[in-house]
Amino acid sequence: MFILGFESSCDETSASVVEEIGGKLFVRSNIVASQIPVHRLYGGVVPEIASRAHVEAISRITGEALDGAGISLSDVGLVAVTSHPGLIGALLVAVNFAKGIAAANGIPLVGVDHIRGHIAAAYLSGENGAPTPKPPFLALALSGGHTSIYRVTSYTDWETVGSTRDDAIGEAFDKIGRLIGLEYPAGAAFDRLAAEGFREATGVDSPSPAQYAASEAGRDPRMKLPSPALPGETLDFSFSGLKTAAINLLHHLEQTGEDLPRALFAARYTALCVEAVEKKLGTALDRYPGLPVVAAGGVAANSHLRRELASLSARRGVGLFIPPLSLCGDNAAMIAAQGYYEYLAGNLRDSSLNASASDD
Ligand code: KG4
Ligand code: ZN
Repeated sequence: MFILGFESSCDETSASVVEEIGGKLFVRSNIVASQIPVHRLYGGVVPEIASRAHVEAISRITGEALDGAGISLSDVGLVAVTSHPGLIGALLVAVNFAKGIAAANGIPLVGVDHIRGHIAAAYLSGENGAPTPKPPFLALALSGGHTSIYRVTSYTDWETVGSTRDDAIGEAFDKIGRLIGLEYPAGAAFDRLAAEGFREATGVDSPSPAQYAASEAGRDPRMKLPSPALPGETLDFSFSGLKTAAINLLHHLEQTGEDLPRALFAARYTALCVEAVEKKLGTALDRYPGLPVVAAGGVAANSHLRRELASLSARRGVGLFIPPLSLCGDNAAMIAAQGYYEYLAGNLRDSSLNASASDD
């Protein structure tokens, strides 16, 4: 079966064709029209501009997705669209487009939760035939709007076992990244700058957390910042304290006329974020021993986080699944993948499908 997926919850318009063969899911096309250059001028996403840009792009990229897969609409067996959460005006564009395509062509329709979509990116089989995760597993959703840990009990059911009480991890990179002169969205540039900082601090590429912590820069008290992992057994995070402390530190350096060691600062900030995720995942694994782990969302592209999660999963003897970089950010292939399981579970929708800004 061919599944046509749509995504327009934030600043990427995406259409994708995923093919299901014997229960395995293969990406046949995945077109992502990014609006980032437009929003960069404003330092963040402008919702009204995002909605208009989705309207302009969606029809064209749908054609490209179908052509890329070498199929036409009459071959499509399922339409899947992100229905929540996200920017309401942006979500409505793909929801209405998908409803129109489904109704006009008599194709079944499903609405997909964006975060479940991120996790479902791990269900897509690559060319190399590497295994894909099967529930139950623990899922880390690390994006611009979410920092959550879920116990995924089936392809369509989950329980939230931890989440951020304020800002999300991606937002924490974007906002502080902007203050140190990185363009929106700062995540990828922050990642590269931190790599320079880790090298500068230790003299080696990709040092272990212990090597970094033992280095002079790793111990520098001037760059002391609070951990975003809340103390105790809770699986919750709080990034606002880290963000405020980082802002204060940057202001202090500015006022005292000291140069900001940008790379070393990026390394310290990244180390704290990565350690916090690792720490809470470790606690989650104590609570749910043996469950494999899926890490997904834009921040799962972070090279330092990927390295440390690989090391943690090896130490704990649990499987780790992280989608390839091309499927970590927002895309419609992941929506098609989750859509397939919503369809199997009988969660079909009709033209009453609506978009929602919130998590449900
Ligand atoms: O999942 P996503 O594409 O969109 C949302 O659903 O929010 O995540 C976007 C977030 C942004 O905050 C971006 O800066 C961050 O993912 N990001 C990264 C990296 N690449 C993207 N954060 C850290 N390291 C990266 N390499
Ligand atoms: Zn996303």
